[in-house]
Amino acid sequence: MTGGPLQGRVAFVTGAARGQGRAHAVRLASEGADIIAIDICGPVDDSVPYAAATPEDLAQTVAEVQATGARILSRRVDVRDDAAVRQAVADGVAEFGRLDIVVANAGVLSWGRLWELTDDQWNTVIDTNLTGTWRTIRAAVPAIIEAGNGGSIIIVSSAAGIKASPGNGHYAASKFGLTALTNSLALEAGEYGIRVNSIHPYSVATPMIENDSMIGILQKHPNYLHAFAPMPYQPVPSGDAQRSDFMTVTDIADVVAWLAGDGSGNLSGSQINIDRGVMRY
Ligand SMILES: NC(=O)c1ccc[n+]([C@@H]2O[C@H](COP(=O)([O-])OP(=O)(O)OC[C@H]3O[C@@H](n4cnc5c(N)ncnc54)[C@H](O)[C@@H]3O)[C@@H](O)[C@H]2O)c1
Repeated sequence: MTGGPLQGRVAFVTGAARGQGRAHAVRLASEGADIIAIDICGPVDDSVPYAAATPEDLAQTVAEVQATGARILSRRVDVRDDAAVRQAVADGVAEFGRLDIVVANAGVLSWGRLWELTDDQWNTVIDTNLTGTWRTIRAAVPAIIEAGNGGSIIIVSSAAGIKASPGNGHYAASKFGLTALTNSLALEAGEYGIRVNSIHPYSVATPMIENDSMIGILQKHPNYLHAFAPMPYQPVPSGDAQRSDFMTVTDIADVVAWLAGDGSGNLSGSQINIDRGVMRY
């Protein structure tokens, strides 16, 4: 496909093998962007209590991106591995000629009260979600500046980067950290025409939360349920109620595509809640 609003631009998506990352890669490709896609495609750490993405998942992303007519360079890379992240960006820029868009999406979640977390739980979540995002930015920003076309960086934070999140305080610390990173980078990169915004999804149907580990902590500590209020049904034009209490990955990709494109050209340093309003309770 040619002629989409992102035609000629190049997007770097981390955590692109499945879930939201795949949806972002495919959506940006369908709007014309070429894609640099990385994912660890395997277990991040034993402390992560749900199934890992696989090389087959990343291959599926590649197939779906190629089906749009866009080009894709994919690599099996851990965002904690600085040299590998830099190499993926360098290879992508060598192949596609420029870099315009970053979706810093790779992330992990585990559960436990702050005084009961293990070092592995803490370090894995902080190293991936916060430090891995910083490594992504550090590798990508010089390439966007070098291309000289400005750009858009979308940092995937969470509701847990806006509000209290009992039972995963390390994850919340990483996601609040991403809010700070977003706002500092928005000011630092603005003079190069690079916009930086964070998104803060509430519950999205992906393997990260569609497993028993969250239920476990809520069963143990039912008072935490107040912090995880169900989202209201979303009215759709037909008048039907849409789904129940989880959003889909394409709901989030809609917002990412808007932030990537020129329609959000006056936004930088913004925190975009994607939550059907539930965080206002
Ligand atoms: N699912 C939700 O409800 C929800 C809500 C708010 C924010 N988020 C955030 O959205 C992002 C995407 O999560 P998702 O819901 O699609 O979950 P997911 O587990 O389906 O996808 C995460 C992807 O990131 C990859 N990844 C994890 N650690 C990595 C590492 N060290 N290096 C490279 N790749 C790595 C995984 O392999 C996986 O493919 C995460 O940052 C998550 O924290 C999720």
